[in-house]
Amino acid sequence: MTTRLSSISNSTAQPIRIPVNLGARSYDIILQNGLLDRLGQQLSALRLGNRAVIITNSIVKRLYARRAVQSLKAHGFAVTVLVVPDGEQAKSMRWLNLILDALVESRCERGTPLIALGGGVVGDIAGFAASVYLRGIHFIQVPTTLVAQVDASIGGKTGINHRLGKNLIGTFYQPRMVLIDPVALMTLPDREYGAGLAEVIKYGVIEDAGFFEFLEAHMPRVLKREPASLGLILRTSCAIKAATVSADEREGDRRRILNFGHTLGHALETVTGYRRYQHGEAVAIGMVAAARLASHLGVADNSVPERIKDLVARAALPSEMPRYPAASLISAMRQDKKVQEQQIHFVLPTAIGKVTIAPVQDSDLREFLKHSLPGRRGRHASHRSARGA
Ligand SMILES: NC(=O)c1ccc[n+]([C@@H]2O[C@H](COP(=O)([O-])OP(=O)(O)OC[C@H]3O[C@@H](n4cnc5c(N)ncnc54)[C@H](O)[C@@H]3O)[C@@H](O)[C@H]2O)c1
Ligand SMILES: [Zn+2]
Repeated sequence: MTTRLSSISNSTAQPIRIPVNLGARSYDIILQNGLLDRLGQQLSALRLGNRAVIITNSIVKRLYARRAVQSLKAHGFAVTVLVVPDGEQAKSMRWLNLILDALVESRCERGTPLIALGGGVVGDIAGFAASVYLRGIHFIQVPTTLVAQVDASIGGKTGINHRLGKNLIGTFYQPRMVLIDPVALMTLPDREYGAGLAEVIKYGVIEDAGFFEFLEAHMPRVLKREPASLGLILRTSCAIKAATVSADEREGDRRRILNFGHTLGHALETVTGYRRYQHGEAVAIGMVAAARLASHLGVADNSVPERIKDLVARAALPSEMPRYPAASLISAMRQDKKVQEQQIHFVLPTAIGKVTIAPVQDSDLREFLKHSLPGRRGRHASHRSARGA
């Protein structure tokens, strides 16, 4: 997949349709400025009856629920709005139960679509509720964060957290439609926007060298959320995620390339108790570390980690590992639900735009981590240029 830089002049004034091809469960991602005011029109096209339920959170409700409701009402829908609290706490058994109570009490039927209006948290819990209520009702994603627009809303992973770990309870359940309004990102706090940019950079590394070059050339415009750049990063990222999921719905080898930067990223989130880093920030550090590991193992030349580190830094994301004992990071990686047959697998870039998945021995990892942690640099040639966080 290559990104034509000339297409930067096309913004998302006209709707862009990106298909997710999954046989009978296929759906479209639709991207358009102002789409929040056209939810009613989009939903009418699916011919799902005249009722709809919106699940949102307290913050997004204040910003966007009125427009969504107005549009649905204008197209003849009776609308119920259910509000969960802001933050990860909403992805819990307690809130799942409260949502299910409300669906039962208001006698929602099989044909009633459930609309997730919000970030990844709202999408994950609403999708889970939609997948289990009456054994599955229609589900529509209306993502309002960059993380949700380029990642969480596409691919059908739903779920909640367990007290012993994140996302341990959930289902694969595809939405009927993903409706993305880039304008909604204008109200997103910088740190949340940055967290999404880490996933955007990830798509360039794993699949599209031209897109990576675009980001290298235009990061200041991307950071300003300039509409044409925003349109391009959204549609390129969504197209890569859609193609990856279409090729591999349930995380075989192909979909696992999306975990680039996440092996160490998740471990960092675990050892820091999910408090120090946003997910995307941990992934940014994890991507740089995985690229350095690739160079350490001799599968990539040193320019690969250097370019990734520079781009991550220009996106105002952290790139350097904090000081944590290698043993605790490795132990956290071992607990990850994606570890196969006791071997820790890494998605390693072999060049910008190309990755391979390989098992890495604990001894290699320990040696690599020891040399790449702050204060221990300079012992290995490939890490000489690394700077402290
Ligand atoms: N299902 C998947 O495939 C998948 C993929 C990635 C992440 N996730 C999950 O998604 C969650 C993270 O998603 P997130 O980063 O969107 O976090 P989030 O849903 O918590 O949203 C981040 C913050 O932005 C606020 N917000 C949302 N839209 C806004 C807007 N337009 N303007 C201003 N503020 C807005 C939210 O209220 C929240 O405070 C995690 O729970 C993660 O596990 C799921
Ligand atoms: Zn991620």
